[in-house]
Amino acid sequence: MSGKHVLITGASSGIGRALALRHAQDGARLSLFGRDEARLEASAKACRDKGADVASFVVDVQDRAGMAKAVADAVALAPLDIVYANAGVATGLSTGQILEDPEAVRATLAINVIGVLNTVEPAIPAMTKRGSGAIAIVGSMAGVRGLPFSPAYCASKAAVYSYAESLRGVLAPHGVDVCMIVPGFVATPMAAATKSWQPGKISDTEAADIIANGLERRKPVIAFPLFMWCALRFITFLPPRWVDAVMLRFSADVPSTKEKEAV
Ligand SMILES: NC(=O)c1ccc[n+]([C@@H]2O[C@H](COP(=O)([O-])OP(=O)(O)OC[C@H]3O[C@@H](n4cnc5c(N)ncnc54)[C@H](OP(=O)(O)O)[C@@H]3O)[C@@H](O)[C@H]2O)c1
Repeated sequence: MSGKHVLITGASSGIGRALALRHAQDGARLSLFGRDEARLEASAKACRDKGADVASFVVDVQDRAGMAKAVADAVALAPLDIVYANAGVATGLSTGQILEDPEAVRATLAINVIGVLNTVEPAIPAMTKRGSGAIAIVGSMAGVRGLPFSPAYCASKAAVYSYAESLRGVLAPHGVDVCMIVPGFVATPMAAATKSWQPGKISDTEAADIIANGLERRKPVIAFPLFMWCALRFITFLPPRWVDAVMLRFSADVPSTKEKEAV
């Protein structure tokens, strides 16, 4: 990994921050993207302390023009080897709530879906021209099968799952690998906000190691933990009403995101 240029969105917290530290340790040059300047700078400093050459970009992934400029500025520093479209938010339903807040729903789709497009699109021409590199899109187990606790979040993650699968076939002949990351529960501020049973939860550092190692092997899908991936894929073959009934036996409290769609 030494000398590789790695771009990460959502690098100011959780999985993105842990990925930044992992790649810093491997000797990568980093372009770190985030919104909260102070948190992003703290991540950048921690990576510099590990000897990495770090550039930080404070930009909202919903800002298409801002993202295009920031990605172009990162490419101008050095060709991109890895792009992680990782930034995201969660939203859902509290116990007894039926309808998600429409504002939160639209913000979630704007950040989790349009934000991924705004990250990946400006990187593709430079990467395909060079004929190398990898694009890693962070989805979720919630994108494998819809869950009755977080409809919009599940929809956003299913959308990027499908997008990544399609993109993989398009970009492979041009030398660029596309990898779908499908995490289960990872101990980050996002997971801490959700009140539910969180089987198989791992630390952000463990998640970053699994992701970085999988990407090094150019795995098309990096899904963890394996038991959850297999279980969720298996239940998609079962009668939907059976699965719905079982899911409703679990309780989960997923707070509505405070994000508002940028206009
Ligand atoms: N934690 C889990 O259990 C879990 C499970 C499956 C999938 N995931 C996925 O993993 C990814 C990272 O989640 P996490 O758990 O690490 O969450 P986190 O700790 O809450 O971090 C989220 C990151 O996304 C950034 N972000 C959010 N909205 C943004 C926006 N509009 N523009 C730019 N950056 C934005 C945040 O930046 P600022 O702080 O600077 O705003 C932060 O760096 C997400 O896509 C999430 O859906 C997480």
